Amino acid sequence: MSVTTTEAVGASPRREPRPIGFNLFEMNCVGHISHGLWVHPDNTRHRFNDLDFWTSEARLLEEGLFDAVFLADVIGAYDGYRGGPETALREAVQIPSNDPLLVIPAMAAVTQHLGFAATFSTTYEPPFAFARRASTLDHLTKGRFGWNVVTSYLPNAARNFGLAGEVEHDTRYAIADEYLDVLYKLWEGSWDDDAVVRDRDHRVYTDPSKVRYVDHVGERFSVAGPHLVQPSPQRTPVIFQAGSSPAGRAFAARHAEGVFVGGYDLASYRDTVADIRRQAVANGRDPYDVRTYAMAVVIVGRTREDAERKADEFALLSRAEGHLAHAGGGGVDLAAYPPDTLMSDVLAAEAAAGRDQTRQARFHRADGTVGDALREVTRFDRGPFFAVGTPTQVVDAIEEWVAATDLDGFNLRQFLTPGTAEDFVGLVVPELQRRGLYRTRYEEATLRERLFGAGRARVPDTHPAARYRGGANLGARSVASTLEELVEA
Ligand SMILES: Cc1cc2nc3c(=O)[nH]c(=O)nc-3n(C[C@H](O)[C@H](O)[C@H](O)COP(=O)(O)O)c2cc1C
Repeated sequence: MSVTTTEAVGASPRREPRPIGFNLFEMNCVGHISHGLWVHPDNTRHRFNDLDFWTSEARLLEEGLFDAVFLADVIGAYDGYRGGPETALREAVQIPSNDPLLVIPAMAAVTQHLGFAATFSTTYEPPFAFARRASTLDHLTKGRFGWNVVTSYLPNAARNFGLAGEVEHDTRYAIADEYLDVLYKLWEGSWDDDAVVRDRDHRVYTDPSKVRYVDHVGERFSVAGPHLVQPSPQRTPVIFQAGSSPAGRAFAARHAEGVFVGGYDLASYRDTVADIRRQAVANGRDPYDVRTYAMAVVIVGRTREDAERKADEFALLSRAEGHLAHAGGGGVDLAAYPPDTLMSDVLAAEAAAGRDQTRQARFHRADGTVGDALREVTRFDRGPFFAVGTPTQVVDAIEEWVAATDLDGFNLRQFLTPGTAEDFVGLVVPELQRRGLYRTRYEEATLRERLFGAGRARVPDTHPAARYRGGANLGARSVASTLEELVEA
């Protein structure tokens, strides 16, 4: 497996070639990002409430040797567009939607290797309960759980959790930092690996001297512990993140082991990937301890005509209104501005009104007009990695991008379920394998080992979670006397 890259990142050179990784970009809902496609007769998205929708998908992805299924999530409705959620509801834009964590055990039950990267927000629910849920999932999946850390951008989400408006952008990342610190204490520091002794003769299930309170008292959270879950295979799940602002990227460079990179074109992806790796090094981490993924639009057919016919069909069904409702979810209603308004004026007006326009600024370059931005939002082929063609043509494009950007892999965007993944597994995977770019079988047990190699089920010493290993840096009390004392008593 040999994708080599030429980019230097001003740090230690890449140690070994690695296979290209693929995740399926998913969400527990009808319309994630391909708005309008739910009406296609071959699309089964409306079956997302059924367990066998998820188990069939998991089997298919494992057959295609995917790294993971990546489950996006939001905790509010997109009600910024035209002043309400009507468009989002009509077009099924991420509503109705279900909890992403709850489908994971079912998918894990029918697979042995596939990873699960699910989204959970650090802004609205305190950390203790999520620490427990994540550890439970890591146990039930035997170490295949990853967490996509988000800070949530929907104003409606804030109103669902008792706040009048969104928490300010950089404050959300400050909260996230403390949130992760609490989780690391619980996951890494609260229990020793050998705490569970299951000693029937002495009637001791867990040795209390090997379990400790974490006694976290911070600016925002107070959590005593101990963690309620015994150590899971990975302890800390694989941390994914997708921030693109300076605060978001700095957060990723500290914590993330997988980053979903955004960008406008190949050059911007290359620069962002290099920046993330540089910042990781500045944090004392190996630049390749952060895997980087871009979104991929892949429409493949046995012939070019076949692929183009599919692309035309998708373009025809794609719904501008759905994309506008999605883009307006950040709170900026572009439809409210005349089309010739400069985006720089829109962003200034939104900032003056105190609305968080970070997300909009990213979506629409500030150098054009509202009309330009609307056209960009509704363009069917939006997303810089866009490959339509035969397996050979698609894999040529993948190979070129990986070599030029230093990306580690892609999140495959779906147009049809299961059609997009079926096409990829049936047509693209064999061509990737033929060129030696892709695994031919799974070799590792846990998700972290899949990304970083056998023997790496736990975070490396350079990751901030590692500082709490064995109860170090906690200053916390053990919950009780030693096993020996108990046995003697
Ligand atoms: C590929 C990708 C997937 C994302 N998935 C989610 C998601 O599921 N839920 C969510 O609230 N935000 C999601 N985001 C938004 C990011 O978490 C982040 O807020 C956004 O990229 C803006 O960056 P910033 O937070 O640094 O401003 C995603 C972003 C990208 C690029």
